[in-house]
Amino acid sequence: MNIPSSIWSLLIGIVLTLVSLWYGQNHGLLPTAASSEALLVDELFNTMMTISIGLFLFVEGILIYCAFKYRRRQGDNSDGPPVFGNVPLEILWTAIPAIIVLGISIYSFDVYNEIGGFSPHELHDAPVAQEAVSMPGSAIAATLSDSLIASAAPNLNQEKSDRARLDPATASVRNDDQIPQKRDAPGMGLVTPSIGPSPDREGKPPEFVVNITGMQYAWIVTYPDTGVVSSEMHVPVGREVLVNIAANDVIHAFWVPEFRLKQDAIPGRQSEVRFTPKIAGEYPLICAELCGPYHGAMKTKVIVETQQAFDQWMQEQQVASNDSLNQAVAVNPSDISTAEFLAPYTKDMGIQSETLEQIHSNHHH
Ligand code: CUA
Repeated sequence: MNIPSSIWSLLIGIVLTLVSLWYGQNHGLLPTAASSEALLVDELFNTMMTISIGLFLFVEGILIYCAFKYRRRQGDNSDGPPVFGNVPLEILWTAIPAIIVLGISIYSFDVYNEIGGFSPHELHDAPVAQEAVSMPGSAIAATLSDSLIASAAPNLNQEKSDRARLDPATASVRNDDQIPQKRDAPGMGLVTPSIGPSPDREGKPPEFVVNITGMQYAWIVTYPDTGVVSSEMHVPVGREVLVNIAANDVIHAFWVPEFRLKQDAIPGRQSEVRFTPKIAGEYPLICAELCGPYHGAMKTKVIVETQQAFDQWMQEQQVASNDSLNQAVAVNPSDISTAEFLAPYTKDMGIQSETLEQIHSNHHH
């Protein structure tokens, strides 16, 4: 039986498409999608994976087929035919990738908009600081944001960042006066990183607010409603969370792979990320910006839990912070050395108190 090559092409095309579609949904490369934003991002990723696998199999398939079919036969020492230039083919292999790339970029813009990446209100509410206007290169910026300069509205970014600084929980570690940017926290809304509300929640306040401050090499989480400070982030499941992100010393980045969200933490500036956790569980919260020698150790957990479990945890924290406050007053170790004071803690960490003493004295020499 002689099957025409067009039928073969059709069959191979169908098989390739089916395999790509199947693999695009079953690659198993991503961790749990634990936020509503993650579902959108994953659909985009799966689409790109489907296209990539299809292209990969198509190109590699032809390569292997041709390498086999046109291999050098025994005793054949002649040259291959000189082939060059094929205009229709070149148009085709330029047009197809162009259409694919255009399609993916439109789709990804749409996803970015859906997760609140553009957040247009934030942009227009923020007037440009006067110093920024007189900076070199600002003429270019001015043509882009004329309306912003004309606006006499108060600098909301400055207000926001000032409010974040009032947070007593992180004040002790923030060293505000050592941050040069403090007085002119930029009013450049165009560059303040923000993943705001999804379009259907535009203009509505978030259902839950939590602040996080990055410092070398830890995250400090504070809850503005209760003043509780924690090294882990607890959030209730199913409610839209706003995370206000700040940095104490250098640039860090808030990253929770299971939420598919990443946001820079910048000294002297307040950035935000809004998301809705969908699945209860414990997820890693990782610093995603090289911030120093121990950057790799700068991680903690996000615990997404039911409202009930969350309320209970919050209550325990409030009790615990009261307790430790009392203890701190009771044992004021002013007459013992640092090493002696830290001994019970360093024992747990496997550090000898002598080592600590050495580090301490080295530090002063
Ligand atoms: Cu903080 Cu890397």
